[in-house]
Amino acid sequence: MKVLIVGSGGREHALAWKTAQNPEVEKIYCAPGNAGIGEYAECVDIGAMEFEKLVAFAKEKEIGLTIVGMDDPLVGGIVDAFEKEGLRVFGPRANAAILEGSKAFSKDLMKKYHIPTAAYENFDDPQAALAYLETAKFPIVLKADGLALGKGVLICNTLEEAKEGVKSIMMDKKFGASGNRMVIEEFMTGREVSVLSFVDGKTVRTMTSAQDHKRAGDGDTGLNTGGMGTFSPSPFYTKEIDEFCQSHIYQPTVDAMAAEGREFKGVIFFGLMLTEDGPKVLEYNARFGDPEAQVVLTRMKTDLVKVCEACIDGTLDQMELEFEDNAAVCVVLASDGYPVKYEKGFLINGLEKFQDKDGYYVFHAGSRKTPEGIVTNGGRVLGVTATGADLKEARANAYEAVEWIEFGNKYYRHDIGKAIEEAQ
Ligand code: AMP
Ligand code: GLY
Repeated sequence: MKVLIVGSGGREHALAWKTAQNPEVEKIYCAPGNAGIGEYAECVDIGAMEFEKLVAFAKEKEIGLTIVGMDDPLVGGIVDAFEKEGLRVFGPRANAAILEGSKAFSKDLMKKYHIPTAAYENFDDPQAALAYLETAKFPIVLKADGLALGKGVLICNTLEEAKEGVKSIMMDKKFGASGNRMVIEEFMTGREVSVLSFVDGKTVRTMTSAQDHKRAGDGDTGLNTGGMGTFSPSPFYTKEIDEFCQSHIYQPTVDAMAAEGREFKGVIFFGLMLTEDGPKVLEYNARFGDPEAQVVLTRMKTDLVKVCEACIDGTLDQMELEFEDNAAVCVVLASDGYPVKYEKGFLINGLEKFQDKDGYYVFHAGSRKTPEGIVTNGGRVLGVTATGADLKEARANAYEAVEWIEFGNKYYRHDIGKAIEEAQ
């Protein structure tokens, strides 16, 4: 079978690596891909939003399965475009990807179906939002409704800050059209956990838990980023919490989408906060996380292609997922200055050190092949990932491997997974 992967980040590199393990996969293409993905896949110069070209390519090459990694094409209807032409594609249709594409939609869904989440109000009108703030409790959380590269969330400590936030989201359109609507919600405290799951419209099978580190600097300081590093499993995600979430969050979400006529097939990423009042949903994503995929897929024993096919066919109930009884840590190597301003084009040295080393992986996020070698080509450059018998060992291995890589303006956080040591 030939497989096409849509996207170009570390998540798609991990997806390509995992896909390549299926013996029936004869060829992998990735559009548009990156230098690292090129090791497993032929990179094709078609953008992830160029649906017509992607569909034509998939037909011409007789692609048997397309896996969509990114949120923008999913929300934009890439799955509908492929299905219309009779192509097999893994991911939610646009009417289900709205679970990530509109925070106002997902909050209303949770309210209607009694899925635990922070109390909130939705606003279309900035004046109404400003008036609401006058009687609100602080801190408070403002969220642009639509996709905003993970940056459309503002936590405001004072009324003044919140008023500025409403202005920047709804009036100055700092996050573009995604700020036409806004959610204002209660501020929650607790540990954050990401749980990714496969869904076939009816059945949900959760993967092992993970935790991201979203802020740019050590000790959770600095700006929000796409994610600076992850670990899996989360020691805070206990069996009791899992049981609660399975019956009060995961299955109810899948059932709610089906009841709304928005059957969800693909990956639901549950962003949870473990509060004193129990687990609550922070957000939904309609795809694998990046860099959550890097620590989850490297621990997954089950064949990825088979699970994707079961989701498409609606036969996930006949499958159980299996994970290694180990741990993984991913440290993102970024370009200094990310997420604001950074340079590109520095030669990357040391990539060969990962070859034939079991349990060590270097997933490329932003890299480019040149005649001189592979160079940096983005804010997040590489995701150095290592497994270990437990989180402590995985963390030590990942930070050991971080030293194997050199490039100009290399920047990374030193405390990925440090919370683990505090907890154990
Ligand atoms: P989101 O994109 O909705 O996951 O939000 C990004 C980050 O903002 C989350 O990972 C949390 O750290 C934080 N956040 C979002 N919503 C809340 C909330 N209601 N209370 C506290 N923190 C929040
Ligand atoms: N790492 C967070 C995300 O993929 O949304």
